Amino acid sequence: MSDPTRPKQPRIIAVANQKGGVGKTTTAINLAAAMVEQGARVLLVDLDPQGNASTGLGVEAEKRKLTTYDLLIDEAPLAEVIQSTDIAGLFICPANSDLSSADMELVANEKRSFLLHDALRQPAIDVFAFDFILIDCPPSLSLLTVNALIACHSVLVPLQSEFFALEGLSQLMLSIREVRQTANPTLRIEGIVLTMYDGRNRLSQQVENDARQNLGDLVFRTVIPRNVRVSEAPSFALPVLSYDSASKGSEAYRALATELMARHLIARRMETA
Ligand SMILES: Nc1ncnc2c1ncn2[C@@H]1O[C@H](COP(=O)(O)OP(=O)(O)O)[C@@H](O)[C@H]1O
Ligand SMILES: [Mg+2]
Repeated sequence: MSDPTRPKQPRIIAVANQKGGVGKTTTAINLAAAMVEQGARVLLVDLDPQGNASTGLGVEAEKRKLTTYDLLIDEAPLAEVIQSTDIAGLFICPANSDLSSADMELVANEKRSFLLHDALRQPAIDVFAFDFILIDCPPSLSLLTVNALIACHSVLVPLQSEFFALEGLSQLMLSIREVRQTANPTLRIEGIVLTMYDGRNRLSQQVENDARQNLGDLVFRTVIPRNVRVSEAPSFALPVLSYDSASKGSEAYRALATELMARHLIARRMETA
């Protein structure tokens, strides 16, 4: 139950797809940066032992004193794990390889699937006044991803514009259905976003047509093009929006943020009407 004495709670969105290399981390970083550019306050939770989101936002390994691992395993307070980034309004809960043993360390913990759910609802984070929390999931349907699916309100699925893209989706949809039937009945699909799209490539167009035909309005109008600036930005520890603000990749992530946030404004207006 929501507590009426607490301020409006952030919308929690898990960026998930059990396939690696489809653009989860890239989307989490750049969507977060674009939302912040448009006035939102955003927390990015790095839930991947590879820690790519942390690196990509300039939190180097030695600066990760407390991490998502401490949050989940040692119940470190979220407010202490959160770090600011060079971008005002954008915060991160960093991760490192410690997280790779979390699955095993948690087998005997009865609450193991709910740890992230509970951590993200700690009243102590109200002071940050986050509008959105994005969770960058690992490339698996492991306990970590299950934690994300239980913790979140909705799932954003990056779909790489290549052959077999849709095939992998059915497994994720099954996991979402399972979580809905048990721990998180109101779990929604925020949307599916086509990534690394190459308009000159017939395969990209075919994946887009298939996705729109099969999944309809779940697929965002915005597609993220394959853009070299997007792939260069992490090595400068910057979102592409800061690295090359005028690039096609930056424009696409801005459009995605606008499209996503517009849906929520409409939803909120309907709630309060
Ligand atoms: N729109 C894009 N254009 C070019 N390269 C991209 C784009 N999106 C992602 N990449 C690159 O593809 C690789 C995988 O992306 P990443 O976001 O790390 O995937 P995941 O988190 O799903 O494993 C990275 O090297 C990234 O820089
Ligand atoms: Mg990743």
